Amino acid sequence: MLVMNEPRAPIALTGATGFLGGHIAAAILDAGLPLRAVVRDPARARHLEARGAEVVMADLNDGPALARALAGAAALVSNASLGSWAGEYDVYQRVNVDGIENLFDAARRVGLERVVMISTVAVYRTQLRRVMTEASPGYDADTRRLNWSDVTTDWRYARSKTRAEAVAARHARALTILRPGPIYGSGDPKLTARYLRSAARRVVLAPTVGVPQVHAADVALATVAALQRPDSIGRAYNLAGPPTSPLQVLRILRRLHAEGLGQTTRARGWVVPIPLPISVRFDCSAARRDLDFVPRSLEDGLREVLRAATMPPGESS
Ligand SMILES: NC(=O)c1ccc[n+]([C@@H]2O[C@H](COP(=O)([O-])OP(=O)(O)OC[C@H]3O[C@@H](n4cnc5c(N)ncnc54)[C@H](OP(=O)(O)O)[C@@H]3O)[C@@H](O)[C@H]2O)c1
Repeated sequence: MLVMNEPRAPIALTGATGFLGGHIAAAILDAGLPLRAVVRDPARARHLEARGAEVVMADLNDGPALARALAGAAALVSNASLGSWAGEYDVYQRVNVDGIENLFDAARRVGLERVVMISTVAVYRTQLRRVMTEASPGYDADTRRLNWSDVTTDWRYARSKTRAEAVAARHARALTILRPGPIYGSGDPKLTARYLRSAARRVVLAPTVGVPQVHAADVALATVAALQRPDSIGRAYNLAGPPTSPLQVLRILRRLHAEGLGQTTRARGWVVPIPLPISVRFDCSAARRDLDFVPRSLEDGLREVLRAATMPPGESS
């Protein structure tokens, strides 16, 4: 059942030309649901138009354009956001907090109630020896001086996403919040591109630290499931994989290359482990129960990355 006002009205997706947005757009279309891609540059959304999506232009800082973009939509996936290390805090405040306020205000003005929001596990103050649940202390609530997440997370991003969740909770009447771990997958110019660059080197140093990385397509499937499940309204869900290390990633990439997949990597050379016997874990049992969230294996996820890297532009998801 679609938990939306009007079953054939489109699902509006912000940031549809971004990395995760591309995977969510593909999952919505694959599920046979109508998509309205809300983007800053329509020329970069032609592949979505070719699949039957409506494409509309709106910046998060343009309230009237957002209201036009959301009018008549059945639901909103709020995905557009600045990622880590994008500048000073006021840059984050403008896009990730004030921009989200504009978006949710526009949704309220056009009577759009159902929202699935893409947040992040960065909203927690991660603790190493605990499995973090959706009830774990948030970034603003935990005031200890130094914490693991201060080392691994851009505090500006974490704080802005925490505040964005608060804005969403204040405005939206039927809200689901999704909190993915670090995301990898095809089309990712950050984490995955770094892995591919490292895998192309003759000698590469790789830490053994366990990172709760999750494939973008698994986050996208959980997003579509949330849109369709009334039980997910009013809840937040962690969407993270079991801890896997950069060392595992690089070894798998080399092995897949040796099997003939992925000209972007190197089959031979040294991957030198840097022992760091720590890992970060998130409890995802609620997402497994309500959203059928089952993260794919790292090997399957990396196969997708290498296959997409050999396809002509626009043909991968
Ligand atoms: N990547 C990760 O590891 C990760 C982990 C957890 C959560 N997330 C969350 O996943 C979501 C998507 O992130 P991503 O990794 O896919 O990042 P991304 O590739 O940088 O995509 C961000 C999208 O937001 C759009 N955007 C940025 N500023 C905007 C503005 N002022 N107005 C309208 N649109 C704007 C961008 O538009 P353009 O396409 O025009 O640039 C882009 O499409 C974010 O909410 C992020 O917090 C990401």
